[in-house]
Amino acid sequence: MKAVVFKAPRELAVEQVDDPRIEEPLDAVIRITTANICGSDLHPYEGRAELDSGMVLGHENMGIVEEVGPAVNRIKVGDRVSVPFNLACGTCRNCNDGWTSACLRANPSGDPGAGYGYPKMGPYWGGQAELLRVPWADFNLLRLPAGNEHENDYAMLSDIFPTGYHGATMAQVSPGKTVAVFGAGPVGLMAAYSSLLKGAARVFVVDKEPDRLDLAARIGATPVDFSETDPGLAIMDATDGFGVDCGVEAVGYQAHDPSGEEHPEMVLDNLIEVVRATGHIGVVGVYVPEDPGAAYGLAKQGRLPFEYGQAFTKGISLAGGQCPVKRYNRELRDLITADRAAPSWIVSHEVPLDDAVDAYAKFDAREDGYTKVLLHP
Ligand SMILES: NC(=O)c1ccc[n+]([C@@H]2O[C@H](COP(=O)([O-])OP(=O)(O)OC[C@H]3O[C@@H](n4cnc5c(N)ncnc54)[C@H](O)[C@@H]3O)[C@@H](O)[C@H]2O)c1
Ligand SMILES: [Zn+2]
Ligand SMILES: [Zn+2]
Repeated sequence: MKAVVFKAPRELAVEQVDDPRIEEPLDAVIRITTANICGSDLHPYEGRAELDSGMVLGHENMGIVEEVGPAVNRIKVGDRVSVPFNLACGTCRNCNDGWTSACLRANPSGDPGAGYGYPKMGPYWGGQAELLRVPWADFNLLRLPAGNEHENDYAMLSDIFPTGYHGATMAQVSPGKTVAVFGAGPVGLMAAYSSLLKGAARVFVVDKEPDRLDLAARIGATPVDFSETDPGLAIMDATDGFGVDCGVEAVGYQAHDPSGEEHPEMVLDNLIEVVRATGHIGVVGVYVPEDPGAAYGLAKQGRLPFEYGQAFTKGISLAGGQCPVKRYNRELRDLITADRAAPSWIVSHEVPLDDAVDAYAKFDAREDGYTKVLLHP
């Protein structure tokens, strides 16, 4: 089959690799109809997370079931399915508690949590390819209505829609609340959208990319350009000095100032400043235990000096981590099916697999308009 193969940082190839096949009785093989490029794919792409050469990329996958193993009995050949980015066994303690993001059995390294085509998440190939092997298929796959309606909306169910929703949930967004979302990449925009779906009264979205801020404004959020104004002061001003109830971090460890210089603690500090006393912060932006490419010594070891004292004094709760996609994807699917949500407003480009190398480069450069790229093999 044809696949997007990681060779080295900033060096990808679309080339022929072996077809995946059923290896275990509970496996399925999916024929991919849509696989997205994610901001997380840029971590290995930029060499800021180590990935083995030869790995097939892609953890935002959907398609049609092509083949199932002999023990699969819920999912059938021909089903249209969404594949959560977490790859989970369904039977370990964490899976039973709903934390498929920290499955204790799927990652052969023994670390909690596994996924497709991603550093430290196990040997599983990703779905930026014609075919994808899905282990524990009955547990992992979400069935979608047959046909090809809402393809680009459902494509958001494997990661960014649930992840944005998880950020808003950890930030305890509920009707009437005020929310500050930092980062207007796909994840931040989905967190803003989810906050509005949850009934937030007002949502601020902070970034410096004009096209992304425009998208935030289009769904009814208030854009804040941190290259033009101090976002902390702007949000405090706009809330009469009270601050917001809820904060979502959707930037991650490569947070930078307007000049592009990285300060991995700056968005956490911004959030602790603008979230009111006893408010809540949900961190979905990725932070890592080691980052050899970081701006300073402590950060290289994953240690960030941030305003924890201030957060404690204000009684702010901080929660974070990978999104357990299965906790949300059924209900979000049903919102899409019922025409109550349509997250594909975020999609900027749809290209064939053959154009993936070019699309990665443009998405990485945050080239104007490259917000969310969908690959259709
Ligand atoms: N927790 C999860 O399960 C999960 C899932 C998917 C993605 N992620 C992570 O979420 C983060 C965002 O993903 P994405 O796809 O939207 O990435 P992205 O890189 O497209 O977007 C990040 C945005 O943050 C902005 N930014 C940088 N510094 C900033 C600052 N100081 N203040 C405000 N905005 C700033 C950038 O301009 C960019 O638009 C990444 O860290 C990604 O790895 C986490
Ligand atoms: Zn993703
Ligand atoms: Zn498990």
